Amino acid sequence: MINKVAVLLVVLLFIIAALASDPDPVMDFCIAKSPDNSFSCKNSSTATVEDFTYSGIKSPGNFKQTGFSSMAVNSNVFPGLNTLGVSFVRADFGVGGVNVPHFHPRATEVAFVLEGKIYSGFVDTNNKVFAKVLEKGEVMVFPRGLVHFQMNVGDRPATILGSFDSQNPGLMRIPNAVFGSDIKEELLEKAFGLSSKELSKLKKREAPMAAIRGKTCACFLPLFTHCLVIH
Ligand SMILES: *[C@@H]1O[C@H](CO)[C@@H](O)[C@H](O)[C@H]1NC(C)=O
Repeated sequence: MINKVAVLLVVLLFIIAALASDPDPVMDFCIAKSPDNSFSCKNSSTATVEDFTYSGIKSPGNFKQTGFSSMAVNSNVFPGLNTLGVSFVRADFGVGGVNVPHFHPRATEVAFVLEGKIYSGFVDTNNKVFAKVLEKGEVMVFPRGLVHFQMNVGDRPATILGSFDSQNPGLMRIPNAVFGSDIKEELLEKAFGLSSKELSKLKKREAPMAAIRGKTCACFLPLFTHCLVIH
C-alpha cells in the first residue's frame, strides 16, 4: 500500500515537472495560424524563411515614464516560435531608466547586456536580494517566477536582450498588478498602510491610461508638459 502511494507520488511529481515548462514539439515546427497560442499550425508546405526570422526589434520601442522600453518577442508577434519553447525581449533604458519589479510566471529569463551598465537583480522567496551592476557582455539569470528589476546606472543608454524558456513567458509588473488593477481600495490601503489620498496617487500613476500617456509623451519629449495637459 505504502509502495503504491510512493509510486503515485513519484508519477505525480513527474507530471507536475512536465507541466512546468512548455510542451515538447512533436513536429519540426508549427507556425502559429493565429496569435493566440492555440498551437494550431499553418500548412508546413507553405512555410518560408520569413516565418523563421523577425525584424521587429532593430530599434527600441516606445519609452515609458520610467525611461524604459521593452519589446517582447513571443509567439504572439513571431508565430514561428510557436511550440518551440523559447522567446525573448529587447529592453532599452534611458540614463537612469528603470525596469520596475516584475516577474514572468511561465519562464526563467537569461538577460545579456548588449550595451551599458545595469544594476540588475532578483528577490527569492526569503526576500533575499541578489543584485549587482552588470557591464556590457555580462549575463544574469532570473529564476522562473521570481521578482526581478533593473536600472541603468551608466551615463549613456543601455540595452539588454532577455531570453525565456517559454514561447509565452507572461509578464506581471508589480506596480501595475497591484495599483493598476481593480483590487478593492480598502484592501490596498490596509495592505500597504496608505491613506486614500496616497492610494489614489499611486492608482493614477499605474492606471492603464498612464502607460499610453507615457508612450505619447516619450514620442514628443520636448512637449512633455503639453502632452500631459492634452491627455
Ligand atoms: C498542404 O499544402 C499542400 C500543397 O498546397 C497540399 O497538397 C496539402 O494537402 C496541404 N495539407 C493540408 C493538411 O491541408
